[in-house]
Amino acid sequence: MGLLEGRVALVTGGAQGIGLAIAQRFAAEGASVVIADIDLDAATAAAEAIDGPAAGVRADVVDPDDVAAMVAATTDRFGRLDVLVNNAGITRDASLKNMTLEQFRQVIDVHLQGTWLGMKEALAVMKAQVADGRADGGAIVNMSSISGKIGNFGQSNYAAAKAGIVGMTKSVAREGAKHAIRVNAIQPGFIDTAMTRAMPADAQEAATSSIPMQRAGQPDEVAKVALFLASDLASYCTGITIEVTGGRHM
Ligand code: NAI
Repeated sequence: MGLLEGRVALVTGGAQGIGLAIAQRFAAEGASVVIADIDLDAATAAAEAIDGPAAGVRADVVDPDDVAAMVAATTDRFGRLDVLVNNAGITRDASLKNMTLEQFRQVIDVHLQGTWLGMKEALAVMKAQVADGRADGGAIVNMSSISGKIGNFGQSNYAAAKAGIVGMTKSVAREGAKHAIRVNAIQPGFIDTAMTRAMPADAQEAATSSIPMQRAGQPDEVAKVALFLASDLASYCTGITIEVTGGRHM
């Protein structure tokens, strides 16, 4: 029996990278999975490749209508929503001197507004399921970053957004707790995805050499922690943030 048998999970930014690994890992543990991504073709292809019940939907997490629609699509298709992973993310790195207001806002919007909207829609559905006895709880996992703990040169937008996600996680954890809806966050370090492969080679080397475990993490190593937080293994954990960094910035 899988750890998420009978559960329905929605993963934003699930078409590639960490989100895709989470969707695959959840499906392997018995969940029905909805992959929401701004790239519909990629979301659809990712869902088709999953071994088990899965669907791909287009959603820009910044858009309130899209976020409401992705949650509605999940409950329409699979009848319920037990797990939301707010994973969609972007970077627009630049020093403070060079960063435009638009770059600042884009990153704040995708991470903070996107996570806030996702939690707002999902919490309402999860609360209703608990109230009418169809569920005994729910779980939300928010993707922060170690950048939100330590700050990174050129990431005044991203570090602010990722630190904000931690505060938001704790606030909503308090609101969800009496309904047995747990809300937690993950702070990955340097994970091998398109996002980090886009960094200059010397920056990638510098990052890797500063990791006590001396290697980048793999997306599934974040997915396994998301599985822990989403499943009953973490039944008494809420409002926490788990670092997945190979020891970097401990
Ligand atoms: P990625 O760039 O490989 O994948 C991000 C996905 O999000 C893509 O499929 C993209 O289409 C989707 N997306 C972007 N904007 C969106 C929007 N507005 N609405 C819906 N979908 C959108 O990135 P990766 O590396 O898999 O990152 C996933 C999450 O993990 C992000 O929140 C990122 O900030 C976070 N993270 C990643 C780290 C890394 O080392 N790769 C380290 C720490 C955190």
